[in-house]
Amino acid sequence: MLPEKINQALNEQIAKEAYASAYYLAMASWCEQNGFVGTANFFYRQSDEEREHMMKIFKYVNEAEGKAISPGIEQPEHEFDSYTSLFEKALEHERKVTDSIHQITALATDLKDYRTLNLLRWFVDEQLEEENQMQIILDKLKLIKDDGVGLYMLDSELGQRSETTEANE
Ligand SMILES: [Fe+2]
Ligand SMILES: [Fe+2]
Repeated sequence: MLPEKINQALNEQIAKEAYASAYYLAMASWCEQNGFVGTANFFYRQSDEEREHMMKIFKYVNEAEGKAISPGIEQPEHEFDSYTSLFEKALEHERKVTDSIHQITALATDLKDYRTLNLLRWFVDEQLEEENQMQIILDKLKLIKDDGVGLYMLDSELGQRSETTEANE
């Protein structure tokens, strides 16, 4: 049986993953409107991944005889100052999600909830990867500054990356 506190925390996490999915969708829309077609694909892919994260927790909660709740989703912002600000906001958001995963991990450790800890281990690794990915893009943007050719190349690279990821699945 899933401890009640864990059930509640996981339902909150389900809502956070759903919000992350909606947030990346808003970023994809901004990219498409501003000519960054490759980066739009990248954020569409990110949005799909966040929904997969949500479903992973959702299915687990019911499987562990808890009660998974389909979340209401708050509307994310759609206005962004610049291309770089997308990745700054994405990194900031991923860091918040990481904190929340770590908090649930601490709770599950206290409660000796080994099943949930096993699920969370995957998320701990995933968050490290996601933060790292956004950080690498921000580092590239620092090198590129306002160079148009550099931005064009980064946009193409991000577009290709999402295609290769899909092809590998
Ligand atoms: Fe996620
Ligand atoms: Fe994420």
